[in-house]
Amino acid sequence: MSDTAKLQVPGKDVEYPILSGSVGPDVIDIRKLYGQTGKFTYDPGFTSTASCESGLTYIDGDEGILLHRGYPIGQLAEHSSFMEVSYLLLNGELPNQEELTAFENTITRHTMLHEQLATFYRGFRRDAHPMAVMCGVAGALSAFYHDSTDITDPKQRMIASHRLIAKMPTIAAMAYKYSVGQPFLYPDNKLSYTGNFLRMTFGVPAEEYEVNPVIEKAMDRIFILHADHEQNASTSTVRLAGSSGANPFACIAAGIACLWGPAHGGANEAALNMLREIGRPERIPEYIARAKDKNDPFRLMGFGHRVYKNYDPRATVMQKTVREVFDALKVNDPVFEVALQLEEMALNDPYFIEKKLFPNVDFYSGVILSAIGFPTTMFTALFALARTVGWVAQWNEMISDPEQKIGRPRQLYTGPVQRDYVPVGQR
Ligand code: SDX
Repeated sequence: MSDTAKLQVPGKDVEYPILSGSVGPDVIDIRKLYGQTGKFTYDPGFTSTASCESGLTYIDGDEGILLHRGYPIGQLAEHSSFMEVSYLLLNGELPNQEELTAFENTITRHTMLHEQLATFYRGFRRDAHPMAVMCGVAGALSAFYHDSTDITDPKQRMIASHRLIAKMPTIAAMAYKYSVGQPFLYPDNKLSYTGNFLRMTFGVPAEEYEVNPVIEKAMDRIFILHADHEQNASTSTVRLAGSSGANPFACIAAGIACLWGPAHGGANEAALNMLREIGRPERIPEYIARAKDKNDPFRLMGFGHRVYKNYDPRATVMQKTVREVFDALKVNDPVFEVALQLEEMALNDPYFIEKKLFPNVDFYSGVILSAIGFPTTMFTALFALARTVGWVAQWNEMISDPEQKIGRPRQLYTGPVQRDYVPVGQR
């Protein structure tokens, strides 16, 4: 006998089933609430709302646990590859060697963009933010790949998913090349997914580009850390857009737009800008004080999380990766020392302890990406590149969910009640 939740509203007692997942909080199934009571629940920001059932990613915010299809992020970051994690998220199981090779070959053969899209870039200003370009080009893909926009056809859904995963590195690299006035490089099928991205970004037609294996491994790990993260704002945006039957390219463009915000994926760019503004350890107390000041809108970027009330396990891996990249590139950027001391000071400050504010995935990522050579404006574009596999996996799961229907939340209306129109001469 499953438990139920009893609710008393004026004049009516109602009862709703409590549903349990494989792990994590139970949910109260309130789908009949409005029909039975004429009342809505009220949950701005969805702090206590499960929007769907999913088997992709599990987060335990109190324990700092992140699992993809059951596998801990630390193990995947240590032993897996972004292509293998992509296969896992899309298909539910780790691939054997034959399946992995076939998947990598499929993705490799979708990395080129329709040549007409290169012209599309010419319409942007050179100093356009790469996220504006990513938004525009991702949405424009639906104007080129009509043969994979029928969302009712599982084969077309999978082709669209492969195209999106494969083309994001090309789109992101082209956005960077366009911003620095260098020619686009075509993908090189001999390279790995991540090695190909590094070459398209930093290579030039005038000379051979040698992929640095340490950087390739670090970049691939960064992609793994950003692949998926339950029902975050941009994933929920993709699901909501997809629930109307919009084509997958339009849904991913919507996800990119949402990710751009500084409270979400834009935080990696904001976090490095903040660390550079702080500049040296002596100035950290001033910024800690500002972050605690209710009257100051300033927040420590890369700190805090809606779900993690413990250390974000991705930040742990990210911090380790900083040291590897710094050693490999013989970089000694003081910004890392500022980040380490800022973290140390914040984690020992009662305000951050009481509010359970820890570094999140965005706190260290910018330090690494900057050391590798990316401008801060590219950071969120890299987040979008990696998160595309999570978005398409969640989108596929939603489309195949027999319970899915168009998302259409209600509201608590506090505007004017009905009144009659007054002609302008009488106002
Ligand atoms: C990502 O959802 C995901 O999974 C996202 C993500 C993913 O992989 O998809 O993990 C990626 O978006 C990581 C988060 C990146 N954003 C930032 O680093 C921006 C800085 N952080 C915050 O703005 C904030 O922590 C959020 C947006 C991340 C979470 O905000 P919540 O859950 O809505 O919490 P809140 O804003 O209500 O804050 C709770 C309290 C508040 O104080 P009180 O009003 O209760 O007194 O904590 C304070 C906040 O003022 N607080 C901070 C703070 N974050 C929260 N104070 C100072 N610095 C901060 N960073």
